[in-house]
Amino acid sequence: MSLSFEIKKGQRIDLWLKETQATTVPLFAIHVNGEMLFKIQQASRYYQYFTWTAWQDGVATLEWLPEHSEISLCYTWHPDSLATCGIAFIATLPDDFRLLDNRDLAAWYQQEPLRPALHFSPRTGWMNDPNGLHYKNGEWHLFYQYHPHSTQWGPMHWNHAVSHDLYHWRHYPVFLQPEHNLMALGATGGAFSGSAYTDKQGQTRFWYTERLPAYDLYRGYREVQKMAVPGEHYDKPEIVKTVLSELPKGVDCDFRDPKVWYEEADRTFYMILGASVNGDPAMLLFYSEDSENWAFHHVLYVAPAYFRQNGGRCVECPDFFCLDGVWVLIVGIVGYTEPATGRHNLLFAQTGAFSNGYFTPSEQPLQTLDFGTDFYALQTWGEADRRIGFAWLYNWATQKNVDSAYCGEMSLPRRFHLNVQQQLCMTPELPPESMVVGKETLHVDKPWSNADGYKAFTLTFTPASTFCLTLTGDSGQNIMLEHDGRRLTLHEWGQDDRRYAAPLPEAGDVTLCFDAGIVEVFAQQGSVCGTRRYYSCSKITAINLTGATATLTQYQASAAN
Ligand code: FRU
Repeated sequence: MSLSFEIKKGQRIDLWLKETQATTVPLFAIHVNGEMLFKIQQASRYYQYFTWTAWQDGVATLEWLPEHSEISLCYTWHPDSLATCGIAFIATLPDDFRLLDNRDLAAWYQQEPLRPALHFSPRTGWMNDPNGLHYKNGEWHLFYQYHPHSTQWGPMHWNHAVSHDLYHWRHYPVFLQPEHNLMALGATGGAFSGSAYTDKQGQTRFWYTERLPAYDLYRGYREVQKMAVPGEHYDKPEIVKTVLSELPKGVDCDFRDPKVWYEEADRTFYMILGASVNGDPAMLLFYSEDSENWAFHHVLYVAPAYFRQNGGRCVECPDFFCLDGVWVLIVGIVGYTEPATGRHNLLFAQTGAFSNGYFTPSEQPLQTLDFGTDFYALQTWGEADRRIGFAWLYNWATQKNVDSAYCGEMSLPRRFHLNVQQQLCMTPELPPESMVVGKETLHVDKPWSNADGYKAFTLTFTPASTFCLTLTGDSGQNIMLEHDGRRLTLHEWGQDDRRYAAPLPEAGDVTLCFDAGIVEVFAQQGSVCGTRRYYSCSKITAINLTGATATLTQYQASAAN
């Protein structure tokens, strides 16, 4: 198959290719103005990374043998236009070898019913945790855990997208790749989660975990912390260094997901890490003067014993930040299953004070951050007076029920604040007005039907007392949000029991966002939130609400921008 397009001097083509059947002909070749300049004569049976730079303007012709090789990911980009245009994907399906523009991307997204319109998702491959979130020169940078070669978790890369409004994203080149060819080693691991910090001089750096080649998913692996300094174009790091590899006493193999910040008062860089200490899920604190040489400070937080007693193995993706003078510590506890409900993949927040490197919890009990089950690996970042965060909408137990080119979605961007009881509250940063395609009032007991067939909408209402909202899906199922005066419950009629519930004497203002099967609920000023990713339902055909009049806002897709 062949594909031709114009290229400019300096333009790059990046691809991951594996050989499936031996041949004497090149598997992939690039000709410019008729001259062959690059060829992959043979490749391994494992995906390998190849990159090519054009040294002249002209017409490039790519020749590819899909009968003898597979390409999991291929894109082209130019350093001069990366910041404005991002990368351009090249479709590499056996019957579709094409350079994709924004319109093609929109069509590609449209063809998948479960592809959200508002929530960030990768074009292809697997995505999990948000990483390295930061704001720079008026734009939000979202990095994320990524496996390009399948829709399953695998050797971890960091992929990258940039947005000016948290809804319209430009894709960037894959930023980090695993240190080893893990597929060839028959191992897992790679560039695990981490964070970014931008200093006063505007230099952004990343700290992340490398899980070295691992032959067991649950024990005996080695995790080290690395620091990466991005190159000029933010396409890949210029410098990568291992900055921390010594485990403190009592710490088993889990030692990951660094979040780094600089504390002015202490003139110190701090790093928190998720771990288990003598078997209890815990958060470790390290400190450094220069952000490269790290020393262990102490164990900042140990989860109460019932976490370990109920399967909790370690803390993952810890977060720690100050909101209006109060410190908030957030932990995800992998393995833990809530005994009363069977829910897992849960996040917990503890407020308190932080001084001289020590955290003193407040009287406020540990808060469960979500009454659903699909809100994990949250990462927040602070910009001016706003703290915004994304979480990964996933729960290992529920899988997509149809073939799909990708797996994994981010939550809506959420804004964090504390209420007067000092509970951590999350409210959605809603899409910009330019994405609104309709607004109407939904009257009590007057069913509404989705004539235009949009995938995404929000409903906002303030019930006087109890209410019942029924969303009827495209295959007849009913997703219901009910408030009986004591509890708020989100359930799929006939499918799940009422385990997705939170005590709530008064609902206050309620916002529900629906997007191709994703439901996010925010009640009581965001102190009660529930998130579910339903794969059984991609569109809502009818809505019925008793107990309140609501405003319904419909949105058009942004995903392919
Ligand atoms: C959380 C997590 C992290 C780890 C990453 C690996 O979902 O397990 O602890 O860094 O995913 O992909």
